[in-house]
Amino acid sequence: MNVLARDTVAVAAAAVSLRGIGKTYVNGELAVEVLKDISLDIAPGEFVAIIGQSGSGKSTLMNILGCLDQPTAGTYRLNGIDVAEMSRDELAHLRRDTFGFVFQSYNLIATLDATENVELPATYSGLPKDERRDRAEELLTRLGLGDRMEHKPNQLSGGQQQRVALARSLAVQPEVLLLDEPFSALDAVTRRALQRDVRRIAVEYGITLVIVTHDIPEAVAMADRALVMASDPGRIVESVPIEVNRNDRDRRAADTQVAQGRLQTAFENSVGRTTAAPPARPAQDSLKIVGGHV
Ligand SMILES: Nc1ncnc2c1ncn2[C@@H]1O[C@H](COP(=O)(O)OP(=O)(O)O)[C@@H](O)[C@H]1O
Ligand SMILES: [Mg+2]
Repeated sequence: MNVLARDTVAVAAAAVSLRGIGKTYVNGELAVEVLKDISLDIAPGEFVAIIGQSGSGKSTLMNILGCLDQPTAGTYRLNGIDVAEMSRDELAHLRRDTFGFVFQSYNLIATLDATENVELPATYSGLPKDERRDRAEELLTRLGLGDRMEHKPNQLSGGQQQRVALARSLAVQPEVLLLDEPFSALDAVTRRALQRDVRRIAVEYGITLVIVTHDIPEAVAMADRALVMASDPGRIVESVPIEVNRNDRDRRAADTQVAQGRLQTAFENSVGRTTAAPPARPAQDSLKIVGGHV
């Protein structure tokens, strides 16, 4: 297959398509290149993990994906449409209806109970009240909070608050769910339960899922592919397929071990690439995957 034909197919099929995306902050004289030449395609319904050292630009990339921030270079097409050409209203619409976000902090409204927190974004989408409430209650129940729906955030544990935040992100039926280290503050048992629940709901609803995580077992548990980022500037240095049998309940199954090992190696390599090369030596841009489509 020639390269052009493959690219054409990929662009047509991808929910998310980035080409040469860069982000540079300019503060006075100083320009900080946070992202450089990021090209990637994410197919509708695909589950992708992003891993990389702290400071490698993962959150910056997520904010660009969710149209909360704009790149300073490159093109972002969402379902084939160039985001840079969208009006302010169209962008607001996208942020509200197309994307669901969950961050490490839960950002719940203290004065509203769980159901009201989940309903809130759907209020702005103009969904009738009964439907909003039914959907909120269904999601909370599915996320194990059927008996906590009238609790305020301060009456809920951290894990329960994050379940509310997840239900809220799903209440607008997003096409793309963006999770930025969503479970980092939670204990191991809660994390595993949430990984399983979120994956199951996303599969059922046909949602495209992008998760930033520091935790390699979490990337393997949640995603079918992992993008590995290196720093200075932030860029994608590897795309690692995750091939595991999801029906196998034995978490120590051989395929899971193999996937975790591959990802660990890729991550360690990305850290090796991070340290600034001595000026005399050209930056390691000749590495085969840098700047390529992944
Ligand atoms: N407004 C800004 N001006 C300059 N640098 C910034 C700004 N915002 C973020 N950065 C830098 O961008 C880099 C990537 O940040 P971030 O995307 O939060 O990384 P990660 O999520 O991988 O930890 C960091 O080095 C950070 O200091
Ligand atoms: Mg971050």
